[in-house]
Amino acid sequence: MSEGPTKSHGRLSIAPSAAPRDLMSDRPSRAGAWYAQVITLFPEAFPGVLGLSLTGKALDQGLWALEPIDLRIFGEGKHRKVDDTPAGGGAGLVLRADIVGKAIAFAQRKSRLPLVYLSPRGRRFDQASARTWSQGPGVCLISGRFEGLDQRVIDHFGIEEVSLGDFVMTGGETAAQAMIDATVRLLPDVLGNAASVEDESFSAGLLEHPQYTRPAVWKGLEIPDVLTSGDHKAVEEWRRAQSEALTRARRPDLLAAKGTEKG
Ligand SMILES: C[S@@+](CC[C@H](N)C(=O)[O-])C[C@H]1O[C@@H](n2cnc3c(N)ncnc32)[C@H](O)[C@@H]1O
Repeated sequence: MSEGPTKSHGRLSIAPSAAPRDLMSDRPSRAGAWYAQVITLFPEAFPGVLGLSLTGKALDQGLWALEPIDLRIFGEGKHRKVDDTPAGGGAGLVLRADIVGKAIAFAQRKSRLPLVYLSPRGRRFDQASARTWSQGPGVCLISGRFEGLDQRVIDHFGIEEVSLGDFVMTGGETAAQAMIDATVRLLPDVLGNAASVEDESFSAGLLEHPQYTRPAVWKGLEIPDVLTSGDHKAVEEWRRAQSEALTRARRPDLLAAKGTEKG
């Protein structure tokens, strides 16, 4: 089969798709906007939560662009088959190298973004990964299903494997949305208040301090006095101490990585 045809909508050129993706194609993207491609058997799962709140607003504003690529289109035969039984036997089905290879070639028709296979075997995604991705042109995420991808397509394209965590999901779509969300919110102009990115968990290798807001008393519980004292220096010191204590209690590995663990 030939590589899938493209269809142009305004400034976006997209793959042929089911109706949900056509809705997204109306969103313009700025030249050079951060670009996420997702090769998936479920393009209708996108934008999903990414279409809501700040990431959705940024998508509408063209601060980033999303191109789900329907793997099924590259399948074979009347049923557009994309998988087959594992060589050597065993349960389940494996996504075929030739089919996924065609989808990747289609994804690379205009530019070659870093290729990532979402996989529980991969390097664990973290805030540093999100920051690195946000500083690049975008990513092409390959979402697996069933038993995953034929190893040859991973080897041939030199695809990096990245995991959302040490658990197994039925498919990579949830992982794709989580990783894209964490990345997009670091792009310039996506969050209204840039300072909130600097303060939050992992930014300085620490977990974030506790947060409070109104009412001043709830179920007999008060906001710590220092936070209502108006003493900005004292607030900053309290928050820092809380961050360090929380990190020491919950994630000593982060402190060890910073080389600041005091024991
Ligand atoms: C049922 S899983 C396959 C698991 C695979 N047989 C294994 O044991 O490593 C199907 C797909 O879900 C996605 N997936 C599952 N867990 C994931 C995780 N923790 N991080 C990223 N992707 C995951 C991957 O794309 C994977 O190909």
